[in-house]
Amino acid sequence: MRQLQVSAIKDGTVIDHIDSKSTFKVASILNIPAESRLILVGMNLSSRQLGKKGIIKIEGKVLNQEEANKIALIAPNATLNIIKNFEVVEKRRVSLPEELVGIVKCFNPNCISNHERIQTRLKVVKKAPVRLRCHYCERTMEGEDIELL
Ligand code: CTP
Ligand code: ZN
Repeated sequence: MRQLQVSAIKDGTVIDHIDSKSTFKVASILNIPAESRLILVGMNLSSRQLGKKGIIKIEGKVLNQEEANKIALIAPNATLNIIKNFEVVEKRRVSLPEELVGIVKCFNPNCISNHERIQTRLKVVKKAPVRLRCHYCERTMEGEDIELL
């Protein structure tokens, strides 16, 4: 039998196949409730798919859409697994929506979204590697330009 490098959880969410170096960045965007239960983070675990991968397991947590969208930006290969009573009851790859609302900052310092109290709106014009275009100023962003709010 295959041995788990990070122990199993009973109920919650497992974020698997994170590009290893992005593991802590993914952890940092998750809203962790103060009363939360067990959280396991593994990094540099061996993976046939990615060589090395990161994994985050959170007991008693269901991800919201905003968290899932942020994970799709930081770790496009990640898999979200919902665990109920030790079984994987749902597994899906993260995916980017057509538009990101209130999630990414516009890189253009003169953009209205950086001056008025309005939510940013960026259209996903390309997925891999990701390229975004601001709804307001039409500036495009990729790679290092993409900054989460
Ligand atoms: N997992 C867990 N606790 C459980 C069940 C599963 O932490 N009670 C974790 C596993 O360690 C794995 C992930 O959830 O990292 C997905 O589980 P599973 O689908 O059984 O593993 P794989 O078949 O390896 O997944 P994949 O095909 O997505 O690589
Ligand atoms: Zn803009």
